[in-house]
Formats: sequence, C-alpha cells, structure tokens
Amino acid sequence: MSQVVPHIIRLDSVSSTQSELKQRVPEGAQEGTVVVAKQQTEGRGRAERHWHSPVGGLYFSILLKPSLMIRPTDLALLSGTAMAQTVKKYVPREIPVGVKWPNDVLIQNKKVGGVLCEASMAGEVTSVFIGAGLNINIPPSELTDFSHRPFKATSFLEVLPDNHFALEDVLQTFLRIFFNLYDQYLKEGFRSVQVAWEKECLFLGKKIELRETGIRSSKETGTIVQGTFLGIDEQGALVVSTSDGDRKSYVTGEITCCWY
Ligand code: BTN
Repeated sequence: MSQVVPHIIRLDSVSSTQSELKQRVPEGAQEGTVVVAKQQTEGRGRAERHWHSPVGGLYFSILLKPSLMIRPTDLALLSGTAMAQTVKKYVPREIPVGVKWPNDVLIQNKKVGGVLCEASMAGEVTSVFIGAGLNINIPPSELTDFSHRPFKATSFLEVLPDNHFALEDVLQTFLRIFFNLYDQYLKEGFRSVQVAWEKECLFLGKKIELRETGIRSSKETGTIVQGTFLGIDEQGALVVSTSDGDRKSYVTGEITCCWY
C-alpha cells in the first residue's frame, strides 16, 4: 500500500483539470489531491497542443508535493509507465500496448493516452501536477483527427467495440499503480523508474526517427534524427545510436516513425 492516500474531487465539466487543481493549491490542497472531470472544454496536451476531451474519456490531475528535490521529468516517465501498466489490465495480452518516449501510451501503434507533467515552486515547496488523459469509451468518430500526426488516435472502445469500461475502475487502477511506483521512486531514486519504463517501452532496438522540438512548443522544430533506439539514460533522455556509430541523447522531441 502506498503512503499517499488519494483524495478525489469529482467534477462534471471543467476547462482543464490541470487548471482546477492548480487553483486549489493556494487554498491548501494536499499531496494526493486528484481532480477528475467528465469532460474538459480546454484540455491541454504536451507542447501546447489541445487535448480533445469529450464525455467518455478519463481526464484527471494529481497533485504531488515531494519533500525531496526531484526532477519533474522523472515523474513524467513514471506516469507514462503507470498508464501503460493500467491499460494492459483492460486489454487482452495479444494486443500490443506500450509507452512511446517520453510518455505517450499506444495500443496497436495508435495513441490512447498521454500525460502532461507541470511543476511550480512556492517558497520551499514544489508542487507537481500530473495531468493524465485516456481515451476510453470514445467512439472512433469522436476521436481527435490525428491524421496529420505520425501516430493516430485510438480508444478502448475502438479496440474492443463490444465493451464498456467503468471509468472509476480505470482511475482506481491507475492511482494504485501510480502511487506504488511513486513510493518506490522516493525510496530508490530514478533507477526504479528507468527499469519500469524500459519494460513498458516500445521500439527498443528498432530504427526510429526523432523530430527534435523545443521544451515548451511543438512548433519550435529542430532537426530530424534517425538511429537505433537504445533506451533512456540516467537523465531520462532518449538514447540512439546513429548510422556512423555515435551515441546521442535527446531531452526533448517526438518519435515520428519506427521501422520494424
Ligand atoms: C499529451 O499527450 O499531450 C498529454 C495529454 C494530457 C491530457 C490531460 S487530460 C487531464 C489533464 N488536463 C489537461 O488539460 N491535460 C491533462
């Protein structure tokens, strides 16, 4: 059992669960506060993208207040790992599920969920906001149009059309897995995240293409890199070996292609 006991605040429609949670920090919200909403009108994704959030998906944000100095990027990888482990509990074994660096979760190579990790400092206290979105009971016609993106969107419902999933059950599964990984991280450090993440990750040992991006915006594009994906280093950066034998690490960017 985890040390942190989640305190869940359930809301109907919000602009973004991240904003709702942030507003509660000056009012004294404690570590483990979770804001969950049935829909979001202004859901936010990584790199300033919009996160389409119709009814049927699971949208929530978790507040952490680690007393140790931690790297928010560690928690982003930890959250992607928890999400992949959660999705695996609901999808038959033969259907491939995994995490695409850093924390997109894919089913059959289509994106089913993602995590936005943000942090702020007030005095000595760091607050970390883990925002997670999972496409669950969303019919294919209502999924975001990712046709211009390298990995298309999917939902539990698209993959398993005869099923309806209890969002509360998926949330509870995620929180249990997440807080256990978080406790382990606080005790053992980043190595525990690195090992757990690499167990869930996709494309290990495969040739990938990475589009470097700015830390804040996906519009700020950098170079395109190709190489064999070797895993993540002790900073959580993606490591590739290029065709000329160089080993390179990238802190930001997006995997745009994988050759099997
Ligand atoms: C991504 O893959 O780009 C991250 C998506 C994160 C979406 C979630 S939904 C709950 C929380 N509130 C938001 O506005 N964003 C996150």
